[in-house]
Amino acid sequence: MFNPLQPFNALPHLPPKYDFDTVPILKAVNAANIALADLNARASKLPNPWLLMRPLLVRESVASSGIENINTTVLAVLEADILPEKKKGAPKQVWSYREAMMKGCAFVEKKGFLSTNHIIELQHEIEPNKGGIRKIPGTVIANTTTKEVLYTPPEGEKLLRDLLANLEQYLNAKDDVDPLIKMAVLHYQFEAIHPFLDGNGRVGRIIMILYLLLAKRLQLPVLFLSGYIEEHKSEYYRLLRNVTKTGDFGSFVLYMLKAVELQAASTAENVRKIEELIEKSEKKIKEELPHAHDIALCIFSEPLLTIDRLQKTLKLSARQTASKYLSIITDAGILEERKLGKHKIFYSKPFLKLLS
Ligand SMILES: Nc1ncnc2c1ncn2[C@@H]1O[C@H](COP(=O)(O)OP(=O)(O)O)[C@@H](O)[C@H]1O
Ligand SMILES: [Mg+2]
Repeated sequence: MFNPLQPFNALPHLPPKYDFDTVPILKAVNAANIALADLNARASKLPNPWLLMRPLLVRESVASSGIENINTTVLAVLEADILPEKKKGAPKQVWSYREAMMKGCAFVEKKGFLSTNHIIELQHEIEPNKGGIRKIPGTVIANTTTKEVLYTPPEGEKLLRDLLANLEQYLNAKDDVDPLIKMAVLHYQFEAIHPFLDGNGRVGRIIMILYLLLAKRLQLPVLFLSGYIEEHKSEYYRLLRNVTKTGDFGSFVLYMLKAVELQAASTAENVRKIEELIEKSEKKIKEELPHAHDIALCIFSEPLLTIDRLQKTLKLSARQTASKYLSIITDAGILEERKLGKHKIFYSKPFLKLLS
């Protein structure tokens, strides 16, 4: 019997004893896979996908952190990258989240698997002061307003490592369960293990994206999954808890499949809009300046552009040239200009709107 006040040391190993071959799940898997294929097709058409996905990743990082009440905006996070004195508190945590995601992508790409040690490294990036597997008891998941304890995760470093080893094995095993179902199962299990003092929610959501990359369901880490979770947060919490209480993996899997389907569709739509913005801008810039393609890429990979950034990207010897280019582009109506501290920043209004 599950008691929220007792450490859930009886958390079952993976794979779950649950029959996922139901009509609603198969239908939802299908719909999510179609939406994902569409997103992949869109994203691969971008002129420089790895460069251009970076701003989208900032958006995901803000939302995933927002689920944990680390509240800030895409704009504040981007500004903090220009003004070092602002890189503290929530914006700093969001940048750490993005760093962790990039690190995770590098693991997946280089190693072709994801290990417990990789996961520990990701958490360390996000919560450097609370790094490592929990060694002391006392971690609970509680309602933030009533303080009612909803779940007490397993305790004891050895047990946590044992559960993580089982998760690692399931994650990397080749079997015939659809990767989208496995992604949801992995997420529940990771959250139920709750191996760290803090950062479990964020690391768990990074793992979902990394797993989709590993399983080749996603070609780039662009899926804006946390947007859905943030909007349906109480349902997310309720369904996680329900798996522990009743073993109902089905409802949680269906929730995640819906998230994948809807977010893949909306991310694809955003990618399409970005593509359109790049194309239109490049055409206009071409009428006035050389390097139109590189300038357009720079505008849409650095949402807040500075003179120095453009100079560096285009490898221009004179800062003045970059400055002149930016005023020409601003006069052409592609960018707006404003002051940020002692810096002049340039940005595409429709692009920023799309990211916020
Ligand atoms: N009943 C539950 N069982 C397991 N995990 C849960 C439950 N309720 C919430 N969670 C997970 O715990 C996360 C919060 O854990 P925490 O370590 O504070 O992560 P972070 O620091 O990233 O906020 C939530 O985002 C959610 O993923
Ligand atoms: Mg937390």
